Amino acid sequence: MKDILEELEARRATARAGGGQRRVDAQHAKGKLTARERIELLLDEGSFEEFDMFVAHRCTDFGMEADRPAGDGVVTGWGTINGRQVYVFSQDFTVFGGSLSETHAQKICKIMDMAIQNGAPVIGLNDSGGARIQEGVASLAGYAEVFQRNIMASGVVPQISVIMGPCAGGAVYSPAMTDFIFMVKDTSYMFVTGPDVVKTVTNEIVTAEELGGASTHTRKSSVADGAFENDVEALAEIRRLFDYLPLNNREKAPVRPFFDDPARVEPSLDTLIPDNPNQPYDMKELILKVADEGDFYEIQKDYAANIITGFVRIEGRTTGVVANQPMVLAGCLDIDSSRKAARFVRFCDAFEIPILTFVDVPGFLPGTTQEYGGVIKHGAKLLFAYGEATVPKVTVITRKAYGGAYDVMASKHLRGDFNYAWPTAEIAVMGAKGAVEILYRAELGDRDRIGQRQKDYEARFANPFVAAEKGFVDEVIQPRSTRRRVARAFASLRGKKLANPWKKHDNIPL
Ligand code: HXC
Repeated sequence: MKDILEELEARRATARAGGGQRRVDAQHAKGKLTARERIELLLDEGSFEEFDMFVAHRCTDFGMEADRPAGDGVVTGWGTINGRQVYVFSQDFTVFGGSLSETHAQKICKIMDMAIQNGAPVIGLNDSGGARIQEGVASLAGYAEVFQRNIMASGVVPQISVIMGPCAGGAVYSPAMTDFIFMVKDTSYMFVTGPDVVKTVTNEIVTAEELGGASTHTRKSSVADGAFENDVEALAEIRRLFDYLPLNNREKAPVRPFFDDPARVEPSLDTLIPDNPNQPYDMKELILKVADEGDFYEIQKDYAANIITGFVRIEGRTTGVVANQPMVLAGCLDIDSSRKAARFVRFCDAFEIPILTFVDVPGFLPGTTQEYGGVIKHGAKLLFAYGEATVPKVTVITRKAYGGAYDVMASKHLRGDFNYAWPTAEIAVMGAKGAVEILYRAELGDRDRIGQRQKDYEARFANPFVAAEKGFVDEVIQPRSTRRRVARAFASLRGKKLANPWKKHDNIPL
């Protein structure tokens, strides 16, 4: 008996050693942790239960039968984050570069199937050279099996990908179908084809970092939702994000203890809006002052900064925030900001997270770049996302709400539950100058007259009361009491039940 126990321990030790000390040292030398060290940091201490530690590949080509490391390059299992269940896979770069074989894929599929069945999120720690070259089509099949599960899990359990090393070829498409992708600066990259292929096909000379590093994907492509300095920070931040999310689409997000009065009054908000309507201000100040303890988890911080998306808690409950940012492009909607916000709104709706929208939007960005780029279709994504969302929706218009963008930003007409406006709100088809130039084109030479027309227009429309008279705005509120009003609104909506007509699925303008 003792021998058997010893053998088990010996086998475990071999499996835990991964690709051996030399490769572990190489991993550390790059500033990267090993697959197991990452799991240790991600999960609560001692909570990890491993599956398939002894699974080995079945490949017999290229002499592979002589090299069958236990675990086959991926560590899988489940554990907890602050006591809540999560399934995890962590690719082990020290074993065949973390490349994906048929059996490696089967291990990932096993925990994904369990996650869907048992209603717990999946976190994937990706560090892989892509398809296991020795296995050929068996590896491609393995990827597709993972993809299929990503699709089935979408909207059922949250899926988070952390890119912690190379991620090339088909390896990028599994993360691409998850809800959030985070990267580690300088040590991770993602691309469909690497720099060498790019050079051959397009003659472009580009480094791996330029092509698919964290900066590229958080600022240019928007493939990634955020980037962190190193593995340790990344894993700590994923734990923080996880706490905001429900375990699955049947449960609500956890309610956390809070130490912040929901009725807290913020007199400084009364002066947040500058006297000059063209002067920007920082919308993040409002978000932080409304959130419990000023805590805000921003998503896609470095992309399309004219719109802000992220999670706060109000009375301890997770709330998704979407807000125009007047500091960037005057807070207008454009292709990038519409896509960014639409995806966020849909995530919130899929997982029953209420949505708080702060509006200061001068309209859609005009121009050929936008029109040729399909702003009509991309803008429609956000319109569609808000309109189909059945979660509680509370909207506060702080200043401008012009034109189609007024409609889009969770207006009353898109089933907004509470639509508040500050007294500084201006709800109109467009700004006074533009409106007067169209309505009184013949008088454009007469500056005094045009000036008077503009003043008249402002007096009539640059306020929230026309909309309030029609019931499109439920109440004009004091800026200082925004947190209290928003908290009470969401509290009153906790029992909200709203369903869309039956359909197989909708046809959002992709
Ligand atoms: C098998 C692989 C491998 C792979 C790396 N290794 N990638 N083994 N299949 N895909 C092995 C190496 O042989 C090496 O083994 C170890 O992992 C570490 O690799 P290095 O090259 O020494 O490391 P590094 O210099 O850090 O470079 C990492 C890398 C590079 C950039 C990932 O290895 C690389 O370019 N690999 C190939 C990437 C690729 O083309 N993958 C296929 C993509 S196509 P030893 O024994 O020396 O430690 C694809 C299609 C899927 O994925 C489509 C699905 C739809």
